[in-house]
Amino acid sequence: MSLKILIADDEPNIRAGIAEYLRMEGYDTCLAADGNEAIAETDRGEVDLVITDLKMGKISGMDVLRHVVGHYPSLPVIILTGHGTVEDAVAAMRDGAYDFITKPVNLAHLALLAKRALDRRALAQRNQELLQEIETGKKTSSIIGRSAAIKSIFERIRKVAPTKAGVLITGESGVGKELVADALHNLSERADKPFIKVHCAALAESLLESELFGHEKGAFTGAANAKKGRFEMANGGTLFLDEIGEINQSVQVKILRVLQEHSFERVGGERTLETDVRVISATNRDLLAEIKKGSFREDLFYRLNVVNIDVPPLRERKDDIPILASAFLQEFAADNNKRIDGFDAKARTALYNYGWPGNIRELRNCMESAVVLTSGNIITLDDLPPALRGSEESGGIRLSLGIRLDAAERIIIGDTLAANEGNKSRTAEILGISRKTLYQKLRDYGLEADEE
Ligand SMILES: Nc1ncnc2c1ncn2[C@@H]1O[C@H](COP(=O)(O)OP(=O)(O)OP(=O)(O)O)[C@@H](O)[C@H]1O
Ligand SMILES: [Mg+2]
Repeated sequence: MSLKILIADDEPNIRAGIAEYLRMEGYDTCLAADGNEAIAETDRGEVDLVITDLKMGKISGMDVLRHVVGHYPSLPVIILTGHGTVEDAVAAMRDGAYDFITKPVNLAHLALLAKRALDRRALAQRNQELLQEIETGKKTSSIIGRSAAIKSIFERIRKVAPTKAGVLITGESGVGKELVADALHNLSERADKPFIKVHCAALAESLLESELFGHEKGAFTGAANAKKGRFEMANGGTLFLDEIGEINQSVQVKILRVLQEHSFERVGGERTLETDVRVISATNRDLLAEIKKGSFREDLFYRLNVVNIDVPPLRERKDDIPILASAFLQEFAADNNKRIDGFDAKARTALYNYGWPGNIRELRNCMESAVVLTSGNIITLDDLPPALRGSEESGGIRLSLGIRLDAAERIIIGDTLAANEGNKSRTAEILGISRKTLYQKLRDYGLEADEE
C-alpha cells in the first residue's frame, strides 16, 4: 500500500503539478482547493503527509496546520509559501509544521522533504509500537517484568536506543542481558538493518580476530577464500559483542580503533574499510577490576561504556518472579500440549523465596522441567527441583533477632502476599487466618496502599 499525500493549494496548476510529480515518485495523492477541503480530507484518516499552501481564502494553511497538530500530532505538515510570506512559514514551523518550501516549488526538493517527513513518521510510529510492546512485555522485546528495577531499565532502553552511544550491559549470568541488547537494536533507527551477535568467549583467540574483521584469501593457512568479518556484516546496523570481558589485548586494540576511527583492515589485507556500526557489549565480569589487573584496556572500556545498563539479579527484584514463572509455565505448557493452570500455594512460596543464583535462565529451566514432570494441572512442590523445596521448608523469609513481633508480622504478611501476586484469599489461606483478619492487618500495617 503506498503512502498518501494530501496537496492543498488554491491554484489548480500548482496542486496538479505537485501531485503528478509525487505520483511518479510512487505516492498516492489527493487534492484540496481550500482549507475546508483539506481539513475534511485529513479527517478521513487516510493521509500520511499534508502539503499545504498558506494563503487559501477564509480557512488558511495555518488553520489546516492547527487542525492537524491538534488532532493528529504524528501527521507531518509541509508548508508552501510565496516569497513575501517566509516569516509566516517560519511561524508555522514554530506551531508544529515539519518544514516549508518557497514558491516556485522545486519539485525534486519537495519530494525529498516529503520522503524525510514520511520516514520520520514511520520511525516514530514504529518506535511507539515497539515501546508499547516492550512495556506490556510482548514479543519484539520479550522482556517480562514489572518490578521497579525492570521498569527503570525499560526507561533507559527507550532513552538510549535511538542514539549511537555505546552501551555496556552488565549483570550476572542469566539476568537477561541479551534481551536488553535485542530491545536496544529493535528500538533504534537501525532496527531494519543487520543485528550481528558475536559470542566472544566461544571463539578461540586466533579465530576471533578474523571473525570480527574478516580476512583476505591466503591470510593464514586454511584461509582459502576471502571472508567478511562481523564489523563489515553489521555495517549500518548494530554489533553485539557478548562476553566482551573475554577478549585478549590485541583484539581489544583493534576494536578500540574501529570505535575511534570507524575503519579497519581485514586480517592479511591492506585495504582500509569504513564501517558504521553501533556497538553494544555485555559482560558478567567486573571490568573495572579487570582494568586494575591490567587485563582490560581502560580506553576501550570508556568507549564501550558510554551508557551502562546494569541488570540486577532476580533475587533483588522478586516482584518479577511470579509474572516470569507464570509466563514461562504457559509457554512450556503450550509447547508440551499440556493444560496447566498454575501453582499451588507451597510451590508459589518456594519459587518466591528461592535465591535464583542462575537468575532467569534458571527459573526458565525450572519451569520447563516442572511442566514436563507434573502429572496434574497444578504445579506442586514435588514438581520443583530439590533446591527449591529446601527453601520453602526453611521458611524463606529472613527476620533478624530483636525485631518486634508486629514488625515481623508485617514482613510475613507482606512477603506472603507478594509471593501470591496480591491474591488475598490465597494469602489468608496460607497464613491460616480469615480473609477479614487479613484485610484488617493489611490496613493496620499500611500494606493495602502499595498493593492496589
Ligand atoms: N525479563 C525477562 N523476561 C523474559 N525472559 C527473560 C528475561 N530475562 C531473561 N530471560 C530469559 O532468560 C534466559 C537468559 O537470558 P539471557 O541469555 O539474555 O541472559 P544473559 O544475561 O545474557 O546471560 P549470560 O551472561 O549467561 O549470557 C533467556 O532464555 C531469556 O530469554
Ligand atoms: Mg548472554
